[in-house]
Amino acid sequence: MQNVFIKRSWLTPLTAISFALVAGTGVAMLFEAHHYVPGMKFMHEWMGPFFAVAALLHLFRNWGAFVNYFKQHLAAIILSLIVVAVLGGALMALGASQPPRPRPPMPEAPPAAQM
Ligand code: HEM
Repeated sequence: MQNVFIKRSWLTPLTAISFALVAGTGVAMLFEAHHYVPGMKFMHEWMGPFFAVAALLHLFRNWGAFVNYFKQHLAAIILSLIVVAVLGGALMALGASQPPRPRPPMPEAPPAAQM
């Protein structure tokens, strides 16, 4: 039973495809797409954790390869951590210093169906 959940042949496409969906809707929402596409934000919010679980299981299933990768590319990984921390910190400071962005109004809800 356990094998069904951590089978590499399932985990890799599940991780890749859910990443594409979450990242795609996330980038679209940066451009306010969710104000025009009903349900998009809700889907993103719930597919996000789905993606995170798939990615964790994928990591777990490929642990040996990941450890090897870390050993071989330690300097690049440490440098990337520093770059991401500095960039993330700078963007957080920039975001905290800005007033909230105005949002376009949500489209009108369609009238309820007549029985
Ligand atoms: C992979 C790249 C991702 C991008 C580019 C992205 C982008 C975004 C954006 C732009 C919003 C704001 C929508 C708004 O204006 O209200 C948002 C909201 C949200 N995202 Fe993501 N996201 C990503 C991944 C994830 C993941 C992995 C998770 C969960 C594990 C997640 C969970 C959420 C949640 C819960 C919200 C709603 C926050 C709120 O209450 O407003 N996202 N995301």
